[in-house]
Amino acid sequence: MTGAGGQVGVDLVDVLRGFTPPGGDAAFQPDGRVATPEEFEVLGLTRRELDVTDRDGVLRSIRAARPDVIVHLAAYTAVDRAEEDAAACFEVNEQGTESMSLAASEVGAHLIAISTDYVFDGTKGSAYVEYDDPHPLSVYGASKREGELRCSPRDTIVRTSWVMGVRGKNVIHVIADRAMSGANVRFVNDLKGTVSAASDLARSLVTLVRERPSGTWHVANPGATTWFEVASYVGGLLNRGEEFATPISSSELSPTPLALRPVRSDLNTEKFASNWAALPEWRDAVARLVVDRAHRDDVTR
Ligand SMILES: NC(=O)c1ccc[n+]([C@@H]2O[C@H](COP(=O)([O-])OP(=O)(O)OC[C@H]3O[C@@H](n4cnc5c(N)ncnc54)[C@H](OP(=O)(O)O)[C@@H]3O)[C@@H](O)[C@H]2O)c1
Repeated sequence: MTGAGGQVGVDLVDVLRGFTPPGGDAAFQPDGRVATPEEFEVLGLTRRELDVTDRDGVLRSIRAARPDVIVHLAAYTAVDRAEEDAAACFEVNEQGTESMSLAASEVGAHLIAISTDYVFDGTKGSAYVEYDDPHPLSVYGASKREGELRCSPRDTIVRTSWVMGVRGKNVIHVIADRAMSGANVRFVNDLKGTVSAASDLARSLVTLVRERPSGTWHVANPGATTWFEVASYVGGLLNRGEEFATPISSSELSPTPLALRPVRSDLNTEKFASNWAALPEWRDAVARLVVDRAHRDDVTR
């Protein structure tokens, strides 16, 4: 696994070792199988241990480890910074993914590469399915799309969106901290998407590790929402009244974000659900993150 120190990575390491991460749902097992500590031998590599932009290093590391499956999570994920740092973003997300796919092919490993809803432009007007045409609006989205195209047809591409884990730096913590401190928040209500709890995504990745399907799969907690709706819901969970969250339009954001975001990029996850199981609905996922947020500084086992 690359990107093992990121918010999906820390949850995936736990799940592969048979634990339920903070914010996780022990009952959600998409293929009905509970991982035991003996099932997988896990090698979780952080950037310090493997920089995916070092092609020779990637090949050396994969040749030495000879994995059966590689889950490639490492990515340049700073969406706005990428607008002014495109070369570095493409180096990680396009060339790094190509290196992983080439190395996987060389040792006969199956690659699972993670991509994003930001490969879409948001103009479809309904939830995106796997075969909809990508048309990224941002440098980050374009780099992730190029990464998809550098994968081989045998690889698995998992598109996910609005990822949040208890141990990640994400908006849920910002919202919950403000709610607890008595402050109010303003959040955008004109951009729709699907949230993905890192722990539920991790459990879904375990199923894909076992099954190794080729092609593209959308994985997210079902139900399109907006950040304003998420903030209102979190406020309600923490006993804040309606005054807690105010809806704003994206044009009111100040400073204006550098990267364009799709107006509506929620993912249709029927393909994954019909093969295995739907992820829990987004409110269920967000509630678990809020309840378990005290564990945000826990280190992975
Ligand atoms: N977060 C989201 O909302 C979201 C949405 C859709 C898709 N995704 C995708 O989901 C995957 C996991 O995302 P995440 O939320 O877990 O992101 P994250 O918390 O930002 O983790 C990404 C990890 O990649 C590492 N990394 C960056 N450059 C690297 C390099 N050159 N070599 C090796 N490692 C490198 C980072 O290390 P450092 O911390 O040292 O930089 C970090 O640990 C990514 O592929 C991302 O594109 C995320």
